[in-house]
Amino acid sequence: VNHLLGIKYITKEDVDLIFETADHFKEVINRPIKKVPSLRDITIANLFFENSTRTRLSFELAEKRLSADVVNFSAASSSVKKGETLIDTVNNILSMKVDMVVMRHPNPGAGVFLSQHVNASIVNAGDGAHEHPTQALLDSYSIREKLDEVAGKNVVIVGDILHSRVALSNIFALKLQGANVKVCGPKTLIPKHIEKLGVEVETNLRKALEWCDVANMLRVQNERMDISYFPTTREYVQQFGLNKNLLDSLDKEITIMHPGPINRGVEITSDVADSDHAIILDQVQNGVAVRMAVIYLLASKIKQ
Ligand code: CP
Repeated sequence: VNHLLGIKYITKEDVDLIFETADHFKEVINRPIKKVPSLRDITIANLFFENSTRTRLSFELAEKRLSADVVNFSAASSSVKKGETLIDTVNNILSMKVDMVVMRHPNPGAGVFLSQHVNASIVNAGDGAHEHPTQALLDSYSIREKLDEVAGKNVVIVGDILHSRVALSNIFALKLQGANVKVCGPKTLIPKHIEKLGVEVETNLRKALEWCDVANMLRVQNERMDISYFPTTREYVQQFGLNKNLLDSLDKEITIMHPGPINRGVEITSDVADSDHAIILDQVQNGVAVRMAVIYLLASKIKQ
């Protein structure tokens, strides 16, 4: 595989190798000198056609800590605004001797499409409501770090499943590693036939939390939302918002995750997001090591 286009296209062995490699890089980035010279001969372009804070900075830091040369492209300030196509844009960038492209794009399948039309290694940094593979990898890596392993753990993904690339990639990654997965949210925000992916649907948040070891609280993606979707924000908070009272009323300790950005007071209250139960900033920290591993492993194939 010369690309990372989605978790759907990789194996359990690939995930294990990425995590072993990320363990090494996590140790590296905790040293006083956080860099290794591994990718001095590789140039990477980060192409963002959609907004990002975590993923964009995390990829850039990962690349710089591997000593790759890095160029950053934001569609909003580029000649895409003058009508240049995706393929023309990328081929022009590649002609400047770029080896690898990291791309976030609003259209599902944009990474797969690009991989079929240009001669470079492609990493999907999120394509519409389709996949966000490095987010799912860093999420599983963080569960493994906190609970020792992913296999056999009960994980509930809560919220706007319908519009979430994080949900789909997490379902693929968690099932690949032998976790038990439920999704929980309003029926209007859960895709029909999602059970075919091997997950159960639970529409009662309390029951879902009583079952799980880990709750991954997703953001309600208002920017992808049709206004006819039920529920209103107030109804959503009442039925699916995680607050401290609810968390404290459970008989067990659970681990709380969130991919960010958080709508504080909607899917999760601040006292939960900032509590010891939450590993939200650990997820972000682990993202750099996981992305270093992904890029390092793909680059080693370019060099062959
Ligand atoms: N989790 C995530 O993808 O965050 P950004 O949109 O800020 O990159």
